[in-house]
Amino acid sequence: MRVLVIGQGGREHALCWKLKQSPLVKEVYAAPGNAGIATVADCVPIGVADIIELADFAEKLKIDLTVVGPELPLTLGIVDEFQKRGLTIFGPSRLAAELEGSKVFSKEFMRKYNIPTAESTVCQSVDEAHAALKKIKYPSVIKIDGLAAGKGVVVVNSKKEADEYLQVVFEEKRFGNAATRILIEEFLEGEEVSFMVITDGKRSVPLAPAKDYKKAFDGDTGPNTGGMGSHSPAVVLNGETAGEVMKKIILPTIAGMEAEGRTYSGVLYAGLMLTRQGPKVLEYNCRFGDPETQVQMLRLEDDLADILLKVARGNLGDTKLNWKKEAAACVVMAVDGYPAEFPKGQEVVIDPIDDDTVVVFHAGVIRKGPKLVNMAGRVVNVCARAGSLSDALAKVYQAVPKVRFEGAWYRRDIGYRALEHLAATATSR
Ligand code: AMP
Ligand code: GLY
Repeated sequence: MRVLVIGQGGREHALCWKLKQSPLVKEVYAAPGNAGIATVADCVPIGVADIIELADFAEKLKIDLTVVGPELPLTLGIVDEFQKRGLTIFGPSRLAAELEGSKVFSKEFMRKYNIPTAESTVCQSVDEAHAALKKIKYPSVIKIDGLAAGKGVVVVNSKKEADEYLQVVFEEKRFGNAATRILIEEFLEGEEVSFMVITDGKRSVPLAPAKDYKKAFDGDTGPNTGGMGSHSPAVVLNGETAGEVMKKIILPTIAGMEAEGRTYSGVLYAGLMLTRQGPKVLEYNCRFGDPETQVQMLRLEDDLADILLKVARGNLGDTKLNWKKEAAACVVMAVDGYPAEFPKGQEVVIDPIDDDTVVVFHAGVIRKGPKLVNMAGRVVNVCARAGSLSDALAKVYQAVPKVRFEGAWYRRDIGYRALEHLAATATSR
């Protein structure tokens, strides 16, 4: 069959790489893709938000399955447009994707269906926000309602910091219409973990839990980013907690969305905080995680095309997913300046790596003539698989020097939380 993947990051490179291994798949196309994706797929220069052009392309090329990477086209209704034309597509409808597209919607939804999450107040104006601030403790969290590429959430440690952020949101209007409403939210303490399922709206099957390191700098310090590294298994999420997450969070979410007339199909990603009172939802995403997908694809035994096709056709049935026993790890190499302003067009050199358990996924690399250059802040994802998490991490860090560009930086401590857990379990035995 012919598959089209929409997107241009490391997540989409990992999806294309895995889809290409399927005996069912003859051709993989990507829109718009990147330089790494071009080694496994035919890239077509259509932007992720150009839904009509994407649907025209899928019709013309008789694409059998389209897989959507990023949230933007989903919240714009790409699935609705494709389905209207009888095209098979993996992902939630526009109404279902609101779980990610509107934090106010998702918070009200969670309240209605008793899904554990942080306490929160919705504010529609700067005055309402100031009134809400009088009642909170610090640290606290302020979130804008709409999509902001991971940049719309701040933890504020004082009234002064909160006031400054309100100024940015309501006076400078940095986020435009995405911030006509905001949430002022209780700060949750604990460890963060990403829990994803694939679902056809009836059944849900968990993906291997993964842990994403969102903070820019070592020791989980500095600003939030899209994710600076990941590994799977997540280690901190054992079978018992995973069962609790399914029962208290995932299943009520899928059932609640059905009851709301917003049947959810695709990947449902719950960003969780494992608190002392149990797992609580920080946010939902309506798509695969980035960089979690990269490590999950290294561990998935099954045929990804077959699974995604079943979901898109609404017949997941009793499909089970099988994961390699090995661990996988990923380190994101970013360019100086990220997550704030950063230069584009820096030459990227990647030496060949003679080990098929090590893969460099391109996150923000395009070809310019004979050269590879960066076009995003997160440039490559160096990933590896091995018998243990520490060995997978060692392989990744050994491979990192094979990738070079001006201003390259990366976290040196990806996996540290999991390694601490593993050490603690070993000594308590
Ligand atoms: P979100 O986009 O809502 O997931 O927020 C981005 C990041 O901000 C999360 O991954 C957390 O690291 C952090 N965060 C969000 N909400 C909270 C909260 N209520 N308490 C503590 N940290 C939070
Ligand atoms: N890794 C976080 C995300 O995909 O949103």
